[in-house]
Amino acid sequence: MKTPTNLLFLLTLFATLLLSCAKKNASDEGQKMNVFIDDLMSEMTLEEKLGQLNLPASGDIITGAGSNNNTADKIKEGKVGGLFNIKSVEKIRAAQQIAVEQSRLKIPLIFGMDVIHGYQTLFPIPLGMSCSWDMELMEKSARIAAQEASADGICWTFSPMVDISRDPRWGRVSEGSGEDPYLGSQIAQAMVKGYQGDDLLKNNTIMACVKHFALYGAPEAGRDYNTVDMSRNRMYNEYLPPYLAAVDAGVGSVMASFNEIDGIPATGNKWLLTDLLREDWKFNGFVVTDYTGISEMTEHGMGNLQEVSALALRAGVDMDMVADGLLTTLKQSLDEGKVTQQEIDQACRRVLEAKYKLGLFEDPYRYCDENRAKTEIFTPENRQVAREIAAQTFVLLKNEDQLLPLQDKQKIALIGPLADNRENMPGTWSVAGDFAKSVSLLDGLKNALGTEANILYAMGTNIVADSLLDSRISIFGKPTKWDKRSQKEMIAEAVAVARKSDVVIAAVGEAAEMSGEASSRSDINLPENQKELLEALLATGKPVVMVLFTGRPLTISWEKANVPAILNVWFAGTEAGNSIADVLLGKVNPSGKLSATFPQNVGQIPIFYNHKNTGRPLAEGKWFSKFRSNYLDVPNEPLFPFGFGLSYTTFDYKNLKLSESTLTKDGKLTVSVELTNSGNYDGAEVVQLYLRDMVGTVTRPVKELKGFQKVFLKKGETRTIEFTLTEKDLRFYNSELKFVSEPGDFKVFVGTNSANVLEAPFTLN
Ligand code: NOJ
Repeated sequence: MKTPTNLLFLLTLFATLLLSCAKKNASDEGQKMNVFIDDLMSEMTLEEKLGQLNLPASGDIITGAGSNNNTADKIKEGKVGGLFNIKSVEKIRAAQQIAVEQSRLKIPLIFGMDVIHGYQTLFPIPLGMSCSWDMELMEKSARIAAQEASADGICWTFSPMVDISRDPRWGRVSEGSGEDPYLGSQIAQAMVKGYQGDDLLKNNTIMACVKHFALYGAPEAGRDYNTVDMSRNRMYNEYLPPYLAAVDAGVGSVMASFNEIDGIPATGNKWLLTDLLREDWKFNGFVVTDYTGISEMTEHGMGNLQEVSALALRAGVDMDMVADGLLTTLKQSLDEGKVTQQEIDQACRRVLEAKYKLGLFEDPYRYCDENRAKTEIFTPENRQVAREIAAQTFVLLKNEDQLLPLQDKQKIALIGPLADNRENMPGTWSVAGDFAKSVSLLDGLKNALGTEANILYAMGTNIVADSLLDSRISIFGKPTKWDKRSQKEMIAEAVAVARKSDVVIAAVGEAAEMSGEASSRSDINLPENQKELLEALLATGKPVVMVLFTGRPLTISWEKANVPAILNVWFAGTEAGNSIADVLLGKVNPSGKLSATFPQNVGQIPIFYNHKNTGRPLAEGKWFSKFRSNYLDVPNEPLFPFGFGLSYTTFDYKNLKLSESTLTKDGKLTVSVELTNSGNYDGAEVVQLYLRDMVGTVTRPVKELKGFQKVFLKKGETRTIEFTLTEKDLRFYNSELKFVSEPGDFKVFVGTNSANVLEAPFTLN
């Protein structure tokens, strides 16, 4: 009986030794880095130090012979710390060569890019990815993105974007993970791990940059770049957790956001960038501004370029994206005593540290391997993973009479402006993608069914009817394929095609650039001309499946009431058409769950599941009561709640049980539920656990997600799903912004979405 105890002791000893060795190695490494950077900085002039703080956009000017252009000259003079959105090993190598061969101190450049949802192999847009609720897949997608980007010379990505948003008018909801701080935090960590791997020195890992710090997802009226104003209580409890999660995961850099916080733009906000980020959260990487974030502070009314540049540096900015403010004004500010040498040195040191951590001093061409560029990008293996992941992100919103999956040998009419449209499949922010190589839905169905198959096609209508709007959403090489024929003519053709079919698939929705940056909308209905098309198709009496392409929740109340089946596919990336075909044809059973609430109309916005109760809540199941918190003209309920998503099978929840009725400070509570796949298909379900703190010193939300598990069950299978809760799960930021739990009554909810749950009470002692 003695052996196991001894063994345990030895194992613990061994683990402790390993840990202390690892710590020692890390601190030795840190020491080495400090000595290296001290030496280097002792040789740097003030101008060279300021050069490290400068991040211009590359344009496309660096070529082998590009040394005559302006950026190349600046690199030679040591006035550039890095470049971004420059693509290809050839160009990156050429720029790096100028830095390490022609500048005085030969300091390598850092190369960044917006690798947001994949590099050339594009995954679904981040909002779509978040609906997979699958952290392994999220990490895998970031790993592949890093692999491909690093094979093409990139060592730094401006991702993950973790801005919580509850306003689908804001176009950039497409780039985030939806409305929930818990889910958002899990995703932030998975993405950072995926990009950075276990060792930044490897040539296939890249540095992540969490953005946009902070609160960028809460602009007034959903208008991009607009003012944000928020209580500390809301910030700490609801909006800041995903940024903190990324910092805890070791993210190498942080991007300051465009918006103001408490009246001071984030880029010049010392409370945000230093007190919170560095002192409270212990962030030790570097802070970069967003594009012209510094010079934009003059428009915010914070002073001229010199003043705002000094403000940014003092606040904690280390690198200036595009504004040229730090490079051109800090010398004067130093002379005038507006900034200190120490502040400049600190920023320069942080940029140099990032380069050191990436191994660029050891080998500036670490990421410039032409062979990797040829063999590791857009590979069949990566595309296969993209296809599998995309199918996990689709959300089945409605499926009357089991219209889906499609039956064998049905004659399909594929109709709609997004049916035969490769360019719009990847969605917003797909900088490195080759859009012509993405798979449209028409391609995907043909690939699955063979070219001989019964697929009839008609475009039916344009994405939008207004040509001016069309020109605004046809940029970045993603034309909508505007058809000059009249709406009447196009619908007539579509109806004729529909009449010849057994089932109509209507590929409708937004163009890729109707969401994303600077793509806010005040009306988030399906464009009226597309609704007309749907009406005409429904009038044929044929069953209609709506495949919805969108970068945001849309107000599709009419469609929900009238179209029998709706599959929301977001923008699914390179393999979109293949993955959609996999799901439509039943090869994959959909399991995506919404990470953002769909409102019934824009008047309900902001709408989110984890709201407060108020002093006058509306009784459950009611539409309206006078003097209660509600509307005269629309119920409080959303169109589709957070966490919602159907499957081709059905899942039953039974027997919610708690191991104890009381949780103690150091104890554990096991929550279990019986889950049965009661339908006719094997399938995956995301089991969701929510909590409510019934009484607090500050008001608490009616529900908060605190756990989830994606489980796969064969048809007919029953499984007991267990979650463990501890006191830590009950903590929140109180009125003094302390992260605490408060003894008292709680409720736990488990279910298939935020609105459909079983519940049980317990107490924290
Ligand atoms: C502006 C965007 O806000 C940010 O997300 C992006 O990383 C930069 N431009 C660089 O392209």
